[in-house]
Amino acid sequence: MKTVLVTGGCGFIGSNFVRLICADPSWRVVNLDALTYAGNLENTANLPADQLRFVHGDICDRGLVEKILKEERPWAIVNFAAESHVDRSILDASPFLQTNIGGVQSLLEAARNHPVERFLHISTDEVYGDKEGKRASTEDFPLCPSSPYAATKAAADLLCFSYRRTYGLPIIVTRSSNNYGPYQFPEKLIPLLIRNGLNHLDFPIYGDGKQIRDWLYVEDNCRGILSVLEKGQMGSIYNIGAGEERTNLDVVEAICVAIADRLGIDVAALKKRIRYVTDRPGHDRRYAIDTSKVRAETGWQPSMDFAVGLKQTVDWYLDHTDWIAHVTSGEYRKYYDSVYSQA
Ligand code: NAD
Ligand code: DAU
Repeated sequence: MKTVLVTGGCGFIGSNFVRLICADPSWRVVNLDALTYAGNLENTANLPADQLRFVHGDICDRGLVEKILKEERPWAIVNFAAESHVDRSILDASPFLQTNIGGVQSLLEAARNHPVERFLHISTDEVYGDKEGKRASTEDFPLCPSSPYAATKAAADLLCFSYRRTYGLPIIVTRSSNNYGPYQFPEKLIPLLIRNGLNHLDFPIYGDGKQIRDWLYVEDNCRGILSVLEKGQMGSIYNIGAGEERTNLDVVEAICVAIADRLGIDVAALKKRIRYVTDRPGHDRRYAIDTSKVRAETGWQPSMDFAVGLKQTVDWYLDHTDWIAHVTSGEYRKYYDSVYSQA
């Protein structure tokens, strides 16, 4: 069995990745997660106990990370752990600096003392900044982050490559576009709209709603990450995206259609609940990445069409209303009010 230390494996993408690799009995996962508001143990429930060890802890705790590396001698580290929501970084950037930069440094230092074969850091296409009217970014494009969140992710990427050059660490970085699918916390656009649809709430759309994102089904991203882990070149960056560019208005309308179809209700009545609210400060109009490199070097390609993936996602949330109720029972209400009551 090959052991991988996955961090943030109780979050959205991390838990989908843990489930993907545990489907292959030759992998074993040690999942280190601090269980912040975004982390939920239910997300990795029912996986074989001999393939998954959970450690409740913080990636900033270097002593703990070193202890795990010493005990487990994993083949690789895959770092998903992060503060991941742009709007929260605008409310308070401090936890973002702590986890997204300090936490990454802690993992890098621990890996210096307890070497691994691969150190795969999960980054984002947001590090390239706003691509409105511009060419899609290849991996060598300059970093131009707009939000505090994106700035911490760009800083972490630079830190990783400094440890590659200075200490020879086996760094690989993926930068994906916007993910959607099961287990995404309902602060992000798609699950927030679906939850609001089910709870008879309005659909808040920032500014004019014409901002563009490239939507990638989470399982496609996880397969891409696994391909890069197994076949990627050390010291390389890989963009991962589906090329499914949609405006936020396209997305909310498609969600209205999917909910109306599933529940047999009037789509026009749902669409009347779209509300244009105050824009996000510093809001990037468009993200766009060129994904030729990952396709050429690993053979990966996305398999999910956006309309099908969105319908499956709506179905998943409608079938998991207990999960939604559970993850939104804590501090979610306070967060929601702080962003949307003023908007
Ligand atoms: P998420 O917010 O759903 O999950 C983050 C997980 O990390 C949670 O389980 C949380 O408990 C854990 N965590 C947070 N701080 C921690 C700490 N200090 N120590 C240990 N665990 C900690 O995030 P996500 O959407 O799954 O994103 C995962 C990664 O992918 C992040 O690095 C993010 O920047 C990146 N990314 C996300 C997207 C997207 O669309 N969601 C797109 C591109 C890149
Ligand atoms: O591009 C990758 C990034 O995608 C990841 O690095 C981030 O972790 C992830 O959160 C995501 O960032 P975005 O800011 O693009 O995602 P979000 O779901 O927050 O917003 C998507 C778009 O929808 C964006 O243009 C803002 C808009 N939006 C969002 C919310 C929550 C609204 O119009 N209304 C909303 O209520």
